[in-house]
Amino acid sequence: MSLYADVVFPWLIEKIEGPEMYELRERCVRQAVGDVLEIGLGTGKSLPYYGPAVRSLTAVEPSAGMNRLAADRLAAVSFPTKLVPLAGERLPFDDASFDEIVVTLTLCSVDDPAQVLAEMRRVLRPGGRYHFFEHVAADDPWYRRLQEWLNPLQRVLGCGCNMNRETERTIVDAGFALEAIERLITPGAPVHPPLFPMILGVAVRQ
Ligand SMILES: C[S@@+](CC[C@H](N)C(=O)[O-])C[C@H]1O[C@@H](n2cnc3c(N)ncnc32)[C@H](O)[C@@H]1O
Repeated sequence: MSLYADVVFPWLIEKIEGPEMYELRERCVRQAVGDVLEIGLGTGKSLPYYGPAVRSLTAVEPSAGMNRLAADRLAAVSFPTKLVPLAGERLPFDDASFDEIVVTLTLCSVDDPAQVLAEMRRVLRPGGRYHFFEHVAADDPWYRRLQEWLNPLQRVLGCGCNMNRETERTIVDAGFALEAIERLITPGAPVHPPLFPMILGVAVRQ
């Protein structure tokens, strides 16, 4: 693990969002209920927004640098938490062991989004909800081409983050039905907003 990935990138993740992003995080996370799994906890920026309907939170996050910065926020929430320092492609949990799943700004960065979603579907109870907030490929053809051109640089600066993933389709292909989805271009995005369109919504495990 390089100094950039272990120290600088977690610090950047902590700093680079505008207030509009926190509003969208809150809208994503506050609906979660029961025993919840969060994939890619990062520095735990969503933790303050979970509501009282959460019974427990299990978080999966492979980066030691992120986990260090998340520690205080994990200690501050009112429900029991468990942090599992692993990647989402192979989850060490039983089938149907969670009521709901939350993933924010992470399917852009995982090595294999289809495999992570397959594991999420396995560990989520049938009919359980998956709350998502992700940045995705642009609909606008000009920005889409620019994303393709910039993506190699983005992968380096963002520690494996991709600008151009068609995450909505990957979610549906993995066996989730979209219950609600909004496409957003927000001024709080970490880079030029049209290059970082977002999706915010809820999908149900089929
Ligand atoms: C852009 S950060 C977002 C963090 C956090 N979800 C948030 O909203 O602030 C992407 C996160 O995905 C994590 N990540 C990368 N590969 C992963 C994988 N295979 N499984 C789970 N998390 C992963 C990174 O370590 C990083 O914390």
